[in-house]
Amino acid sequence: MTLDIAQIRAETPGCAHVLHLNAAGSALPSRRTLDATLDHLRLEAEIGGYEAAAQAHEALEGFYPTVASLIGAAPDEIAFIENATRAWDMAFYSLSFALGDRILTCVSEYSSNYISYLQVAKKTGAEIVVVPDDARGQIDLSALEQAIDKRTRLISISHMPTQGGLVQPAEAVGKIANDAAVPYLLDACQSVGQMPVDVKKIGCDFLSMTGRKYLRGPRGTGFLFAKRATTARIEPVFLDNHAAKWTADNGYTMRTDARRFENWERYFAGVLGLKAAAEQTNELGIDAIWTRLRELADGLRARLAGLNGVTLTDLGAVKGAIVTFAVAGADHVALRDALRAQAINVSVSTQFSSRLDLKSRGLLNVMRASVHVYNTEGELDRFVAALDAQRSRG
Ligand SMILES: Cc1ncc(COP(=O)(O)O)c(C=O)c1O
Repeated sequence: MTLDIAQIRAETPGCAHVLHLNAAGSALPSRRTLDATLDHLRLEAEIGGYEAAAQAHEALEGFYPTVASLIGAAPDEIAFIENATRAWDMAFYSLSFALGDRILTCVSEYSSNYISYLQVAKKTGAEIVVVPDDARGQIDLSALEQAIDKRTRLISISHMPTQGGLVQPAEAVGKIANDAAVPYLLDACQSVGQMPVDVKKIGCDFLSMTGRKYLRGPRGTGFLFAKRATTARIEPVFLDNHAAKWTADNGYTMRTDARRFENWERYFAGVLGLKAAAEQTNELGIDAIWTRLRELADGLRARLAGLNGVTLTDLGAVKGAIVTFAVAGADHVALRDALRAQAINVSVSTQFSSRLDLKSRGLLNVMRASVHVYNTEGELDRFVAALDAQRSRG
């Protein structure tokens, strides 16, 4: 199936205002997602928040099967959580680590995740092992296999980093983790909605995701996938009166599904907005989206490769919709700001987001242009011309 780009653009209000190449930051939502969110906010204002939630109960419950179907999960394996970081935290901090335990991760790991490893290492004496990259810049699978030992408690990687087009071989990592019976946590913050992601094929115990990037949902939304068998073994780091019931003076009973990782208060309008965005992804078809995104991103890489002074910085055997590059002699932040003044949105990824990766490549920061289905070849031409003009101006 091919996508009707004109229709997608007509249904995306932001396309009339900006040339948006910042889906990896926060993508433009569709009118349907916007309406689903705003309608509920309006209802809350008109009849009261609790009453609006009661009225929308069935629609809200529909969030779980809709999101589950995106990733090949069951509805009871999904928890709504306000962003990818907290979703990831709920999984990571619910695991137990002790002196000498090992956490295996990758070079391109996201900063918040790595800070959490450092904190747990500081508190418990657990050890962080960064598995090196192979020649293509993705996690070296044989080094990963060799790094596993009796003390390995977790394999935890980001599927696609924020700072480039790299797609980690998540399924191959899953096979290694499953063979060694080591829990596997996958940060899929940039990949769900961008490419086919199937938790059964990947074999992860947990997967964390945000709403606002490749799903084009509202900000302040996200979810956690927790495999049923894993949930049954793990007590969440936090419990409240939604995750558990106070069933005796001295006891509580936890929910049995993944919602034990949720908290009670939430952005109900966001749940409905994210559900609408996930429905739309399912309707457009993730295979068609992935094909289109690679077509756009490869086209953008080819255009950029033709510019003087521009070096592409994406790694990996398979490259996705996040295109990064360096412009010789340019201040990338000033370049981003100059483009933004022309209503062209790109961003700059810095060592703040992924210190080990960019530092090891001698990169302070990189320009990032991340495409989504509403982008066109014409927009890519316009962006590259504006970049070139700005670059020549210095
Ligand atoms: C790989 C990765 N993980 C996690 C996050 C954090 O997501 P959130 O801001 O929704 O918590 C990001 C955001 O850029 C990311 O790129």
